[in-house]
Amino acid sequence: MATSDVTQPGTPAPPIIEIRDLHKSFGEHKVLDGITLSVPAGSTLVILGGSGSGKTVLMKHMIGLLKPDSGQVIVDGEDIVPMGPLELEKLRRKFGMVFQAAALFDSMTVYENVSFPLREHRKDIPEEQMRELVKEKLSIVGLKNVEQKYPSDLSGGMRKRVGLARAIVLDPKIVLYDEPTTGLDPITTDYVDEMILDAKKQLGVTSVVISHDIASAFKVADNIAFLYQGVIVDQGHPSKLRHSQHPGVKVFLQTWFGKN
Ligand SMILES: Nc1ncnc2c1ncn2[C@@H]1O[C@H](COP(=O)(O)OP(=O)(O)O)[C@@H](O)[C@H]1O
Ligand SMILES: [Mg+2]
Repeated sequence: MATSDVTQPGTPAPPIIEIRDLHKSFGEHKVLDGITLSVPAGSTLVILGGSGSGKTVLMKHMIGLLKPDSGQVIVDGEDIVPMGPLELEKLRRKFGMVFQAAALFDSMTVYENVSFPLREHRKDIPEEQMRELVKEKLSIVGLKNVEQKYPSDLSGGMRKRVGLARAIVLDPKIVLYDEPTTGLDPITTDYVDEMILDAKKQLGVTSVVISHDIASAFKVADNIAFLYQGVIVDQGHPSKLRHSQHPGVKVFLQTWFGKN
């Protein structure tokens, strides 16, 4: 066993995203105050924190949409902080993004929506093959025969699944979800949680899920990181976070576990 890329059972996978001592202020307002995080390849990390705690700001640093005041963001072995626009565009192909609102184009069919990134980035792919790829991605998210439907014909949960199919159509290594269950009813929330778990199982992707939904977080996470007052105050396996001694985490979790 001389090769270094042989992963031993029980050995954590190497990180695909590493954030080191990240700081970001907007004017006088300090939002990130020294974030250090590591996401093992193939795992699901949930970043949990209250509204306005800086979760979206942190996520934007992972794809270079924001530049930090200081610190490093290492994706797939490369520090992305010094990257210019062309390098960033290449980097972003490693990511699929699923936003809070499914953000589908209402005037386009499901087929046109899901194939959109292929038309933008893979003009070399013939239409026939595109149809196959779209069908394959829709089947991964559990949808069949919906290509000719419009978003308004679909339920909220199905629209989320179409959003994920579009996010994975270029075969990203990492999928980022920003508040995927916020504002959804409990049944649709369950459906979206299952979708995140399925995507991990079927694609082996690394997922980063930003959430303030505690129930969802504990369902989908391999690891949870808790963002509070600009720092990750606790992180680890959900069972560890459940018994966190940090006062900020305790109060936050009580709002859910206190009632259940
Ligand atoms: N581009 C920006 N300019 C100024 N302030 C910002 C900007 N983006 C985010 N903020 C501020 O940073 C804080 C964290 O925002 P955000 O990351 O969106 O929170 P959340 O945890 O709810 O996702 C908020 O106070 C927000 O107003
Ligand atoms: Mg947000």
